[in-house]
Amino acid sequence: MSGLIPQHFIDDLIARVDIVEVMGNRIQLKKAGKEFKSVCPFHDDSNPSLTISPVKGFYHCFSCGAHGTAVGFLMNYEHLSFVEAIESLASNLGIEIPYEKNQQPIKKNNNLFDLLERIQAHYQLELKNDEPAIEYLKNRGITGKIAKRFNVGYAPSGWRNIMDSFGKSSTEIEKLTTLGLVIPKDNNNHYDRFRERIMFPIRDNRGRFIGFGGRILNQDQPKYLNSPETPLFHKGRELYGLYECQQALRKIERLVVVEGYMDVISLAQHGIDYAVASMGTATTDDHFNRLFRLTDYIYFCFDGDQAGLDAAWRALNNALKHIREGRQIKFVFLPENDDPDTFIKKNSAAIFEKELDNGKDLSDFLIDKLTKDIDIKSIDGRARLAEQAKPLISVIPEGIFKELIIDKLSQSVGLSSKKLTSLITEHKNKSLKIAAEQKQRIFNQKIIKNKKEKTSITKKAITLILNYPSIGREAKLNLIEKNNEPGTEILRKLIQTIQKKPDINTAGLIEFWRNDSEGKFLGQLASKELPKNDEFNAQAEMNDCLIQLNKSYIKTRITSLIDKQRNEDLSSDERKELNELINSRKS
Ligand code: UTP
Ligand code: MN
Repeated sequence: MSGLIPQHFIDDLIARVDIVEVMGNRIQLKKAGKEFKSVCPFHDDSNPSLTISPVKGFYHCFSCGAHGTAVGFLMNYEHLSFVEAIESLASNLGIEIPYEKNQQPIKKNNNLFDLLERIQAHYQLELKNDEPAIEYLKNRGITGKIAKRFNVGYAPSGWRNIMDSFGKSSTEIEKLTTLGLVIPKDNNNHYDRFRERIMFPIRDNRGRFIGFGGRILNQDQPKYLNSPETPLFHKGRELYGLYECQQALRKIERLVVVEGYMDVISLAQHGIDYAVASMGTATTDDHFNRLFRLTDYIYFCFDGDQAGLDAAWRALNNALKHIREGRQIKFVFLPENDDPDTFIKKNSAAIFEKELDNGKDLSDFLIDKLTKDIDIKSIDGRARLAEQAKPLISVIPEGIFKELIIDKLSQSVGLSSKKLTSLITEHKNKSLKIAAEQKQRIFNQKIIKNKKEKTSITKKAITLILNYPSIGREAKLNLIEKNNEPGTEILRKLIQTIQKKPDINTAGLIEFWRNDSEGKFLGQLASKELPKNDEFNAQAEMNDCLIQLNKSYIKTRITSLIDKQRNEDLSSDERKELNELINSRKS
């Protein structure tokens, strides 16, 4: 990295980038006509509500409203700065960036990453100086070597350690607050979030530090405290220990998901280098996507108590839609009162691995749980079982695995697989119908709302031009030369940009305004759905908008000149203008 990336390079890159490829490499996409659909990675989505338009180079989630270009996607999904996203796209396309010399680019999140890096080093140093904290880790069987591998540190007691060492200016304090390391209180003061805690730094898949988990040394509550959600840290997306796993192993054969930080570290201490923890949340779709990108063999090993059992069942529910041929998901149930940490200490790595091998297959866990409290011998019981199984099985993707589960289940229920399949299909169709009806309802409500709202002409013109940039090539800019209502300035700029770069697409236009306050507003308009029927003619609609804007300009200008005339004489230029305007209205 040696300078600024030239704008023309960014423009070309954005025009060349295939958003479907960029997103398809990271999340699962499904073709839907000319567009693609996916489960949205930015909220807890169950139905695919994200649409990706290859033509616009743009994605949009109809549920949470997330939207943007391939660049924006990379920035949000991988927490990259704009420059990093451009660098990543360029390197994927194998093109070299012609940096302009002697100018340092501004990397948005880089200083946050840097600060976290320094703070985790600081916590590690504090650990070295603190006998009781070292003693605590020793008592839990953690050696210096493993503590170092996981960058374990210590936040001593006191309310201002981080503030005093890192909060030297208001910008620094703001960064610390953004990262959740200090908490604002009254009269402009701040205090440290983590005190008297063993600190477990959390790293992203590129190894950058993004947050912390902290365990209290004494008996206080809460036992664990995590960094809050920050621009860098999203709990539902990260897995504690995944980066360390990838560093320790050349090839990841399998991964075991556990509940706690200490479980991961304790397993590593005993040579099990393939454990990750979900940090107190359920296993999300993002987690599954990340895990299955690395291996086909996933084990869940939770605590041997009711909470652990419930967590396993939740994990199973979320796993169903990720089942594919060749993938294996197993559940390992430890003895009551044990967690992976205590279990491996009492036993050995070999015995732990044996437990993994003897884990329950997802299908068995599913069927066991469904048949547990049900009397299969009674007709009533079998009906109830079928009823409970239907919603679960209908989310499993079609394939051998689904057939296998249906076979197994049909044996338990005493129904033919054919009958069971038809029951499940019926359920699926019913839920699809309900979802479709709801979508229609929302759509109808929107239409009514739009009519009431009387969307402004400028907004409509901008929406049109963002959706169909090519209509800007022929747009008559002179019609809106002098308008100064809100939005007309940007409409002019959009048309000018297209006339200068006739092949620019939606993504290109959006990226052009990334640093403007209008950028966000453009993104929203670009993701508006426009009619898709044959009668819809974007060019004609656009011309109509410009003509209307011109008319409204003439009307306002005439009014203001006539107003002026009442109080004072118009200059000769103004008189001429007024005459021309009045004449133009007649023609
Ligand atoms: P556990 O309570 O099972 O802790 O929480 P543990 O891992 O056995 O802890 P030790 O062995 O007593 O040190 C499991 C995970 O749940 C989250 C943390 O991510 C923890 O690692 N958790 C738990 C919290 O976020 N806050 C809490 O207060 C407790
Ligand atoms: Mn524990």
